[in-house]
Amino acid sequence: MAVPEVRPATESTSDALLELVQGARKALVVRGESITSAWVEEATADLKAGRQAGWTAGDRGLAFASSRATRTFAHVHVTEGPEPVEVAETLFAVLIANFGPTVQRLESAVSGLTDAEEATLAERFAAAPGATVLLRSRMERPVPPALPGPGLVDPVGFERTSVRSVPIEALTELDWRSFQGTPDERLVADTVEEDRQSLEEILAGRLGRFLDEASCALLKDGRELVGGILISEHDPRTAVVLDLLVEPSERRHGLGRFLLLWGLRALTALGYSTVRLWVTQANRPAWALYESLGFSVSGHSRIFRYEPGPPASAAHPQTSR
Ligand SMILES: CC(C)(COP(=O)(O)OP(=O)(O)OC[C@H]1O[C@@H](n2cnc3c(N)ncnc32)[C@H](O)[C@@H]1OP(=O)(O)O)[C@@H](O)C(=O)NCCC(=O)NCCS
Repeated sequence: MAVPEVRPATESTSDALLELVQGARKALVVRGESITSAWVEEATADLKAGRQAGWTAGDRGLAFASSRATRTFAHVHVTEGPEPVEVAETLFAVLIANFGPTVQRLESAVSGLTDAEEATLAERFAAAPGATVLLRSRMERPVPPALPGPGLVDPVGFERTSVRSVPIEALTELDWRSFQGTPDERLVADTVEEDRQSLEEILAGRLGRFLDEASCALLKDGRELVGGILISEHDPRTAVVLDLLVEPSERRHGLGRFLLLWGLRALTALGYSTVRLWVTQANRPAWALYESLGFSVSGHSRIFRYEPGPPASAAHPQTSR
């Protein structure tokens, strides 16, 4: 059976778009992401009016995209039916074909496929030049019951302070540096400024109410910022670790473990029952730390990344093929 023809979303009826957007939201909520129902109405109206770029493959799929600086963020949703992987591939081909000339990178998530179908799609997608897939896992563990006895002692020579008491410039600088050289270095931000914006969004509660009491920054000798943990609320029972970082020269001395254990104790006091986080599978230090503290995988998601590279005419003669 052929994949339905892909058409601009502006040519769909509002009802058809609403159904597709609702399906995408449902799939993402099941995956543990928090997306409001108000978003459904808004996204449908924006797609219909052309304020948000989008394409439909009949009633089998929807792709939508928005650009920020040199990146395009997209989402591909596939509904139940035959040849779901082919539907997703067709929508990806349209996204790539509509890539603006100033955009250097497309990043997209996919919903509606089973894990096995998504894995097949990932394998096929990553075979194309300029395409890579980042496998992310959701890990969870129960928040431990209250433990008797004294609390966790701060590591010698270090002291905790509230995240908000640290100048945003210092927090950004450490965050940016911490992720350089890791598989996540361009996950959240391409520039220091974007990194700062993402931290400000966390602190402003855009990704769930920021839990000041469960988050902290770590200072060395009372002044130098060397680590931090940022935790927000996902729902009244579940907290989510949005950022954990340790200054590169201070790693493997137990600071990451301390920050996470401290966050867990704070979550016990606040009454949360589960703590969750997302980690890129290739980020081995983080993965090993979470596993050693009893986190286990509860789901997966993939980031489909496409970077066409410089146009052929701009390529260096010796590096072009
Ligand atoms: C992940 C990170 C916070 C760990 O901080 P850390 O202070 O070095 O971690 P710890 O010293 O407390 O290590 C605790 C355990 O984690 C595991 N671990 C940490 N780094 C590791 C590495 N490089 N290789 C293998 N295991 C590692 C080990 O099990 C370690 O226990 P051990 O030292 O007794 O063997 C740090 O590497 C970091 O800032 N990375 C960049 C930012 C990042 O990726 N954050 C997580 C985002 S999801």
